[in-house]
Amino acid sequence: MEFEKRDWPDLQNKALRAILVDDLEQAKRLLKQDDGALSGISELLGKVIDKPLPLQNLTAQLPQEITTAVSYTCGIGCQMCSSGFADRTSKFDDYKYVSPEQFDEVLPWIDTASLVVYVGTGETLDSPHIYDFVKKAKGKPTTLTTSGVPLTKEKVKRLIDSNLTTICFSFDGITSAGHGSGSEKYSKTILNRIDMVQATKKELGVERPHIMINMVLNNENVDQLDEMVDLALSKNAILLLLSIMTPLNDDLYKKSIFTDFKYYQTKINRSIERGNKKGLQVKFGNANEIKNSQPCSSVDRMLAFNEDRYHPSVCCGPIKMPIKIRDESPDTYWNSFPFRYFRHMHDQGESESLPSACDTCWEMHPLKFAKKMQPRQNTFEAYPLYLEAGKLKKNNQWEKAEKNYKTIIDKSGDPTWKGRAYFHLAEQKVRKKKYPEAYELFQQTVKNYYEHQLAFAYLYLLMMILGENQE
Ligand SMILES: C[S@@+](CC[C@H](N)C(=O)[O-])C[C@H]1O[C@@H](n2cnc3c(N)ncnc32)[C@H](O)[C@@H]1O
Ligand code: SF4
Repeated sequence: MEFEKRDWPDLQNKALRAILVDDLEQAKRLLKQDDGALSGISELLGKVIDKPLPLQNLTAQLPQEITTAVSYTCGIGCQMCSSGFADRTSKFDDYKYVSPEQFDEVLPWIDTASLVVYVGTGETLDSPHIYDFVKKAKGKPTTLTTSGVPLTKEKVKRLIDSNLTTICFSFDGITSAGHGSGSEKYSKTILNRIDMVQATKKELGVERPHIMINMVLNNENVDQLDEMVDLALSKNAILLLLSIMTPLNDDLYKKSIFTDFKYYQTKINRSIERGNKKGLQVKFGNANEIKNSQPCSSVDRMLAFNEDRYHPSVCCGPIKMPIKIRDESPDTYWNSFPFRYFRHMHDQGESESLPSACDTCWEMHPLKFAKKMQPRQNTFEAYPLYLEAGKLKKNNQWEKAEKNYKTIIDKSGDPTWKGRAYFHLAEQKVRKKKYPEAYELFQQTVKNYYEHQLAFAYLYLLMMILGENQE
């Protein structure tokens, strides 16, 4: 599987990347060889000599939770599967598991973390290396999330031998969208697996791994929540962790709680309260209820290594950083400008300042997410207009191009297209040396399209030039 090596930076990417990790001297050296494609960046770079770096005070300690994928296969076929295994059993033809070498590349991150979570992206226990990977956490708290289907007594013994702290069963009760597709037989199998773990622990006289259950809620299983609490108590689980099914298509939307969020929110919160009163820890993320809005629990806390091991995710949502890991230290990567800016956006806590993806994320603002998920009739297509704008721009017909970009910003329901359109408006302002206006437009670019590396490099330099670098 080669995709991790694809996209290694060419000269221009290298120069932009150097800016984003605060190595401005290296960026200058590289840009000397540039053919002029980054002339706007070169010009700004010449203006920032001796100015303080942007958001330098927003560095943070390395993430406390490291989540890592271990396998890219799964045979369970949950309709809701966010990893894409609803209708296939393997993601790649030639790549089934994370190799020991790939895993070792994450060890510097694991060394400073206080929790290591092994989950997916397919079935975690499909990985033949999982026992060694758990051992490599060297005794720090570990959680392994599994459907439970491949678990055998032999495997439980090996997990105990690896010193696993917690085994988390993904079990959603009876629902057509979740694990087992609503089959009673499947449920019985999983409950037997839980019993087998407890019996093996007893036999060996050990306390761990603790059992936890992860239940993904939708409108088919909400009414089973009280029953799940009783079940978890009867199985000596230490925690019932709840999450909301994020719908990936219209059919799943109809089964989700977003069809009537307020109604289901009240029901779920009542059950959480009841469960906690009964003595079971029942949690929704870090909280004891589903709120209307809450700060993101992932920012600054976690990093998830999934498919592209050099491009980890900062949360369970769609935000992507505009920078991949290369040879630098974890600290340099984690405190590079896009991460500092991410903190800056979240620190303000206002919708206007958050990335669009965060502002409408199911965890931070479930009501906004519900609205976003509603099937709608937006037939506007940004792509043809965007293509046309590119041609107009090339032919020096900027005013017409600008009109197209503004139409995309007004009419597109897709933030990525909005971000792209903002970028061109912003770059034009740089050409005209209207830096404060350019700065605002680049802010809009990354708000809508966080992965935009070139916009981030501009934003970095403009913050320095305009003195917008203090918190
Ligand atoms: C993708 S699975 C991979 C690990 C393992 N196969 C399992 O099912 O536990 C990781 C977690 O994502 C959850 N999940 C899958 N699809 C989801 C969705 N659409 N919304 C919310 N959680 C989902 C699963 O319930 C599971 O707890
Ligand atoms: S068991 Fe996990 S990975 Fe497999 S289909 Fe279900 S959610 Fe996806």
